[in-house]
Amino acid sequence: MTVVKTRIDRHSPAYTANQADHAALAAILRTRQAWVVAGDREREIKRHLDRGKLMVRDRIDRVVDPGSPFLELSTLATFGQYGDQSPGAGIVTGIGQIHGIPTMFIANDATVKGGTLFPETVAKHVRAQQIAEENRLPCLYLVDSGGAFLPLQDEVFPDKDHFGNSFYNQCRMSAAGLPQISVVLGGCTAGGAYVPALSDEVVIVRGIGRIFLGGPPIVKAALKEIVDPEALGGAELHTYRSGVSDILAETEDQAYVAVRAIFEKMNWPRQSHFDRRPVRAPLYDPAELTGIVPVDYKIGYDVHELIARIVDGSDFQEFKPSYGTTIVTGFAHIHGFPIGIVANNGILFSESALKATHFIEMCNQRGTPLLFLQNTTGYMVGRQAEEAGIAKDGAKMVAAVACSTVPKYTVLIGASFGAGNYGMCGRGFHPRFLFAWPNSKIATMSADTAETVLVDVRKGGLRETSEEELATISREVREQYERQSDPYYATSRLWDDGIIEPHQTRDVLGLCLSLADRVPPEPGNFRVFRM
Ligand code: COA
Repeated sequence: MTVVKTRIDRHSPAYTANQADHAALAAILRTRQAWVVAGDREREIKRHLDRGKLMVRDRIDRVVDPGSPFLELSTLATFGQYGDQSPGAGIVTGIGQIHGIPTMFIANDATVKGGTLFPETVAKHVRAQQIAEENRLPCLYLVDSGGAFLPLQDEVFPDKDHFGNSFYNQCRMSAAGLPQISVVLGGCTAGGAYVPALSDEVVIVRGIGRIFLGGPPIVKAALKEIVDPEALGGAELHTYRSGVSDILAETEDQAYVAVRAIFEKMNWPRQSHFDRRPVRAPLYDPAELTGIVPVDYKIGYDVHELIARIVDGSDFQEFKPSYGTTIVTGFAHIHGFPIGIVANNGILFSESALKATHFIEMCNQRGTPLLFLQNTTGYMVGRQAEEAGIAKDGAKMVAAVACSTVPKYTVLIGASFGAGNYGMCGRGFHPRFLFAWPNSKIATMSADTAETVLVDVRKGGLRETSEEELATISREVREQYERQSDPYYATSRLWDDGIIEPHQTRDVLGLCLSLADRVPPEPGNFRVFRM
């Protein structure tokens, strides 16, 4: 056992100040999450409940195993966009257990614009399917959606990653042995009708569930016929006559009992593929993370202290502790699952990049999943670094991450700027999950650097620029970079799978690793090259 020894002074002014800063950020996060659940739509919620329907998260609660966790993803999608008309993008996605089977839930929130599909609704739905496919999870669709949000039809319908993609995924996942189950709890109109129609098994609830390729307004437009929605596509029609649905439930509660019964008989293998150890809590309280990590990424700290509060028993077997020390690499367990950790501890130099590359190769050789704790302003710049070959050394690390076949997880714990984002497994490098802390920042570069670069570019350009214009550029660039590097700007656009509080990191990662544990490992791509 190699226990990390803490050097933290819990009574220092810096520790207390950090805790206060994080508490303020956590308060903002929780307020925003509560707004997504039920904010600013009292009338819609009342109408929904008056119709005898359950709120979307209560539906999920009725299905998951009592007392088991539910990991909700991208709760704050669309936050700050579309005049905040679409809290959470009108859809809840996340992972919960049904009879012990981890399952991807994709559930519309009909209190948000009738559950219609904004661009981020589609992105969230498709991302949930991608996670399900990679982690081999069955999918449960709780359908209550009016289909495309028609004013934005060009952003949700025609392209490769738009809604058609969700049906493509549904077909391929079913073919790959991942059950696709639907409960119809509202209108499934037009394209939306294919969510149940392409499912392996379908439950529909009397009085509220409806499926039609063309709803009453479309039938009226096409055939000039006025038709009652229940007669056109209600539960009786689809269960007794068309056969589009398999089970008619009299109530939502009955539907969830039926869904649980489907999962109970699913014949789902429960094999484990990792060398799992007994779970040990860290020796140091994860709640201390907020005292250790300053919210300002420019202030340094020792990332070993952070690792000690995430891993089992604070037991971290460091690889090359005396070389390339601006990156920390080593082996540990989280909730009993093996993990190889790559954590930033300063600027990325050639040595740090080479050490990380070597370590990533070893993890691939041993089938050990990788965790990237990202707090990087990028690879070192300057003549000396260029001469030493930082470009090719950084590229080795980027290539090792790209070609890794083990499950990868990324948590943005501070800055995520420049190519450091790539080498540390940013979204473009397909981590199985990517979460961000409320103090994180993500952009090509910091606002300070962007301001200097863009002012200098303008000064050196062909066009003459007055001091006043330069001051305006400077101000606008800073405002733009500060606004766009905010974690809420990022999570609103689905650049991550959600914002989590620091103390939740260990449990969230434990849940993610438990999913990977059930998936047979892929063969590695390279031997271990000493760098
Ligand atoms: N595109 C854009 N906005 C839509 C919409 C759509 N497809 N469907 C509903 N909305 C809006 C409504 O205008 C309303 O907005 P408002 O609150 O600003 O007034 C809100 O969503 C809720 O709709 P409402 O009809 O009041 O709620 P409802 O619960 O009674 O009915 C639907 C919900 C979805 C069943 C119903 O609105 C409907 O049938 N919509 C048309 C569905 C359709 O034809 N889709 C085609 C997709 S290709």
